[in-house]
Amino acid sequence: MFRFLTAGESHGPGLTVIVEGVPAGVKLTEEYIAAQLARRQRGYGRGGRMKIETDFAAIRGGVRHGLTLGAPVAMTIENRDFANWQGAMDVGPVGPEVDHRENTRVVPGHADFPGALKYMAHDMRNVLERASARETAARVAAGAVARAFLEELGIEIHSRVVSIGSVKASDTPSSEIDWDAVEECDVRTDDASTAEAMRAAIDASKADRTTIGGVFQVVAEGVPVGLGSHIQWDRKLDGRLAQAMISINAVKGVEIGRGFANTERPGREVHDVVVPAPDDPRRFRQTSNEAGGIEGGMSNGNPIVLHVAIKPIATMTDPLPSVDINTGEVIEAPYHRSDICQVPPACVIGEAMMAQVLAHAVLEKFGGDHISETSRNLDGYVASHQEFGQPSAAFGRGPEPARERTGETAGTAD
Ligand SMILES: Cc1cc2nc3c(=O)[nH]c(=O)nc-3n(C[C@H](O)[C@H](O)[C@H](O)COP(=O)(O)O)c2cc1C
Repeated sequence: MFRFLTAGESHGPGLTVIVEGVPAGVKLTEEYIAAQLARRQRGYGRGGRMKIETDFAAIRGGVRHGLTLGAPVAMTIENRDFANWQGAMDVGPVGPEVDHRENTRVVPGHADFPGALKYMAHDMRNVLERASARETAARVAAGAVARAFLEELGIEIHSRVVSIGSVKASDTPSSEIDWDAVEECDVRTDDASTAEAMRAAIDASKADRTTIGGVFQVVAEGVPVGLGSHIQWDRKLDGRLAQAMISINAVKGVEIGRGFANTERPGREVHDVVVPAPDDPRRFRQTSNEAGGIEGGMSNGNPIVLHVAIKPIATMTDPLPSVDINTGEVIEAPYHRSDICQVPPACVIGEAMMAQVLAHAVLEKFGGDHISETSRNLDGYVASHQEFGQPSAAFGRGPEPARERTGETAGTAD
């Protein structure tokens, strides 16, 4: 099983992440992980914090001479900003003379209000420090480990911004997107005029002292048919991906394929027709990808395409009316240094979450304590599809027995 756990507060000493289930023999370096962390730090509309941090995940276990050992991969990421929070974020007890940088005023839309009541936090710093998206740096480090594993199996993950506010990028099929151009762009789109309009929308929000959300797309290519399962609700690949995406801070919606748009179209237009394709390893292919690469909770071999909706950030320079959690007094929400738009970096976090779900699903299906074993099992499975359909003992199929007519017709049960 591939899984990870993170720990650490936004302004504490640092983040820790442990990734378990990585097979041995996967090429992994700190530089590779640093490149993924740097991608999360970029983006037009980010706040001052990113100028302080240059994220680097130091590997503390599970890797030797550039290869994973099959043991848990442990990493730590230092918070440089901790230097500015000494005392307030010390691990040990501190006296009343230390400025605790206490936070008692609720930011509507952040974790403050439910967190204060649930955890009895009179100082809501105890909640917001962990609710902060700083934690997603650890997720990207874990995602980089998953990604390194998947890349060795030919699975690649990309992302782009699809909209910021009401500015929308073109509805280009994922196969036609120039991913290198996306990577070069600070709003993660491959179209220069859309990028300009997106930057202008972010600038307008800043001038209006508010924030702006949007939608991003995450695409996985090279995914074999058959990851996930229709058998149980918690084995469905689309369900797992939706949960992973929704768990990202401020994400409020996930669409698999054209899930929302297709509600307005007739059934005959929205399903992916299967045709024979001798040159395809599956021996078949689909003439479209409306389903976004998943049917019945299983990957179908097409690119997996998700759209993810992310709300505008809650912390604003023109704050909403709010309350003091201790006194009950009506006040203005506080302003802590904050981003204006987090859609571009959220793309990279979405990729990391996609990577860890796919890594888990790949290991569930193909297993392997060493990457060569996983790879061999995958190759054997893919090759078996060339024989599938031929009467063969390998599939437990002999010649079709003669059947009596019962009057029943074949069909789906739903
Ligand atoms: C990359 C990224 C950066 C974020 N930056 C901020 C921020 O600067 N200020 C803020 O209030 N929220 C920020 N958020 C969102 C909060 O972490 C999130 O809204 C909060 O934890 C409450 O959770 P919820 O919105 O998922 O309900 C950011 C989210 C992401 C993905």
